[in-house]
Amino acid sequence: MFQKYRNFIRGISVNRIGQAGVIFTTTAFAGFLFFEFLRLIGVLDNAYIGLITYMLFPAMFLMGLALMPLAWYRYSKQQKKSTRELLNERFDDGDIREGFFGSRVFLIILILTMVNVLFIAGAGFRTMKFMDEPKFCGTACHSVMGPEWTAYQQSPHSRVKCVECHVGQGVDAVVSAKLNGLRQMALAMLSDYERPIPTPVHQLRPSRETCEQCHWPKKFYGSRLITRIHYKMDRGSTPRYTTLQLKIDTGRSAGNGGIHWHVATENEVRYASVGDKREEIIWVDWRQPDGTYHRFENTRLRDKTTEADYTHVRNMDCVDCHNRVTHVYEDAESAVDDRIQRGLVDRSLPFVKREMLAAITANYSSDEAGLQGIRNHFFGFYQALDAVQGARLTDRIENAVTVAQDIYKRNIHHHMRIDWNTYPNHLGHQHDGGCFRCHNPNIRDKQGKMIRHECTLCHSILAYDEANRFQYLFQPDKKNPNYKMHLFLRDEFLHSKVQADKN
Ligand code: HEC
Ligand code: HEC
Ligand code: HEC
Ligand code: HEC
Ligand code: HEC
Repeated sequence: MFQKYRNFIRGISVNRIGQAGVIFTTTAFAGFLFFEFLRLIGVLDNAYIGLITYMLFPAMFLMGLALMPLAWYRYSKQQKKSTRELLNERFDDGDIREGFFGSRVFLIILILTMVNVLFIAGAGFRTMKFMDEPKFCGTACHSVMGPEWTAYQQSPHSRVKCVECHVGQGVDAVVSAKLNGLRQMALAMLSDYERPIPTPVHQLRPSRETCEQCHWPKKFYGSRLITRIHYKMDRGSTPRYTTLQLKIDTGRSAGNGGIHWHVATENEVRYASVGDKREEIIWVDWRQPDGTYHRFENTRLRDKTTEADYTHVRNMDCVDCHNRVTHVYEDAESAVDDRIQRGLVDRSLPFVKREMLAAITANYSSDEAGLQGIRNHFFGFYQALDAVQGARLTDRIENAVTVAQDIYKRNIHHHMRIDWNTYPNHLGHQHDGGCFRCHNPNIRDKQGKMIRHECTLCHSILAYDEANRFQYLFQPDKKNPNYKMHLFLRDEFLHSKVQADKN
C-alpha cells in the first residue's frame, strides 16, 4: 500500500511546483494533527500556537492542494501532451489500468479527496471554534486587544464569549464578522489601526440579537438599591454614603415607566446625533404600535443641523446606556474608593485616599514610568510625614503602592493611548454622554415640553454624601439648612409607589 502511495506521489510531483504542493499539504496535515494532539492532552494552551494550528496550517494545506493541478497543467503545456499521454508516461501500467471501480490512480485520488474534504471540514470547524474563544479574541493580537481583555476579565461578563456580544446570531452575522476579523488581523499585523480603538463601535449587532439572548426587557421590574461609598480627602479618608433607589422598571406606557422604558418591547426610541458620535443629540423620538408618536428636538441645534445629520439615525438599545458593561474602565476616584471599600488599602495611613488619587492621576510618559512614579510619589510623601511623626510606615506604604499600581495597570495603557476617561461610561450622569444627553432642558417638543429630568425621575435619593447610609429616612432636623429637601426626598421614597401598584 505504502509503495503504491509512493508511486502515486512520485507520479504527480511533475515539477518544482508539484513537489512544493506535496510538501505543503503533507507538512500542514501532519503539523495540524501533532499540535491538535498536544492541545488535546493539555500540553499547549496558547493563542499564538492556535494561530499556527488553526490558521497557518489550513491555509498551507489549501495552498498545497491548489499547487498540484497547477503543476500538472503547466507540465502538460510544456510537454505538449494530453493528460492521457502523461498518465501513461508517469505511472505504471498497473496503476492506470481500468478496473471495475476505475484505475488505481483514480481510486487513490478519490480516497485522498475524501480525506481532504474531511480534514478541511474538521480543521475548518476547529478554526471557527478557536476564533470564537475569548482567549483568541483577547490575546492573539495582544497589544491591540490587551486593554479590552484586561477589563473584560474583571467584568460581570467574564464568562460570556466575546462573540456573543460582538457577532450575534445568524449566518450573515457570522460571515461578515469573520471577514471583518480577517481584515482587522491584517491591519493589526501591519500596525495600521487607530489608538485608542474608536468608539462607538458601529458594527455591533442590535442588542435584540446579543444582550437579549440572556437578558430581556420583561425581566426589569421594580427597583434596585445601591450604595456608593466615597471617601473624603481628609486625614482619615472618612467614608461618605450615597444611596439611591434606582427605578429600573420597564413599565407599561410613557409617564408610567422607569429606566428600562426605552427598551420595552412596544417602544421604539430613535435619535440622531452630531457626527454619529452619539454624544450631542439632534433630535429624539419614540413611537408605539398604536401610532402614539412623540418627537423632541435640541433647541440649541435647531438651525444648525443639515440634512446629512438625518442619515445617522439610530434605534436606541441597551448599549446606549450600558456601553461599558464589559470593558469597564474605572474612573480614577471610583477605583480608589472601591479598593478602600474592599479592604485592600489601610485607611489608617494618613491621607491615603488623597495621595493614592494624586499618584495614579499624575501625568506619566509610559506604563513603566507610571508604575515607578506611583512608587516615588508614595515614598516621597510619607517619608516627609515620617520625619514629622517619627513612625515607620514602610509596610503599609508598600501595600498601598501595590494597590495603586494595580489600578494603574488595569486602566491605563500607553501603547493604545488609553488614559483616564478615554472611554467614559454612559450609564449615569457623572460624565458627558450619560442620561443628560437627552434628559436636559434643551431637548423639547413643539409645544416646548421637555423630556423630564427631575432628580427623582430615575432614582429616589436616600443619602447624598452623608455619614449615614439612609440619612434621609430619619426625621430631619429643622435647623438643618437642607431640611426641606430631606423631607421631600423622604416622602418621595416612602410614597412613591412600586410599579405593580400603579398598573
Ligand atoms: C457583554 C457583551 C460584550 C462582551 C462579552 C465583549 N464585548 Fe467588546 N464591547 C461590547 C460593547 C457593548 C462595546 C461597545 C462600546 C461602545 O460602542 O462604546 C464593546 C467594544 C469593544 C471594543 C472597542 C473598544 C472599547 O473598549 O470600547 C473592543 C476592541 C472589544 N469590544 C473587544 C472585545 C473582546 C476582545 C472581547 C472578549 C475578550 C469582548 N469585546 C467581549 C460588549 C461586549
Ligand atoms: C451569554 C449571556 C449574556 C449575554 C449575551 C449578555 N449578558 Fe449581561 N450578564 C450575563 C451574566 C451571566 C451576568 C452576571 C450576573 C451576575 O453577576 O449576577 C450579566 C450581568 C449583566 C449586567 C449587570 C451587572 C451588574 O452590575 O449587576 C448588566 C447591566 C448586563 N449584564 C447587561 C448586558 C448587556 C448590555 C449585554 C449586551 C451588550 C449583555 N449583558 C449581554 C449574561 C449575558
Ligand atoms: C437618546 C435619548 C435618551 C437617553 C440617552 C436617555 N433617555 Fe430616558 N427618555 C428618553 C425619552 C425620549 C423619554 C420619553 C420622554 C417623554 O415622552 O416624556 C425618556 C424617558 C425616560 C424615563 C421615564 C419613562 C416614562 O415612563 O416616562 C426614565 C425613568 C428615563 N428616561 C431614564 C433614563 C436614564 C436613567 C437614562 C441614562 C442611563 C436615560 N433615560 C437616557 C430619551 C433618552
Ligand atoms: C436608558 C438607559 C438604559 C437602557 C437603554 C438599558 N438599561 Fe439596563 N440599566 C440601566 C440602569 C441605569 C441600570 C441600573 C444600574 C445600576 O444598578 O447601577 C440598569 C440595570 C440593568 C441590569 C441589572 C438589573 C438588576 O436587576 O439589577 C441589567 C441586567 C440590565 N440593565 C440590562 C439591560 C439590557 C439587556 C438592556 C437592553 C435590552 C438594557 N439594560 C437597557 C440603564 C439602561
Ligand atoms: C434621567 C435619569 C436621571 C436623572 C434625571 C437624575 N439621575 Fe442621578 N443617576 C442616574 C443614574 C442612572 C445614575 C447612575 C447609577 C450607577 O452609577 O449605577 C445616577 C447616579 C447619581 C448619583 C450617584 C453618583 C455616584 O456614583 O456617587 C447621584 C448623587 C445622583 N445621581 C444625583 C442626582 C441628582 C441630584 C439629580 C437631579 C439634579 C439626578 N441625579 C438626576 C439617573 C438620573
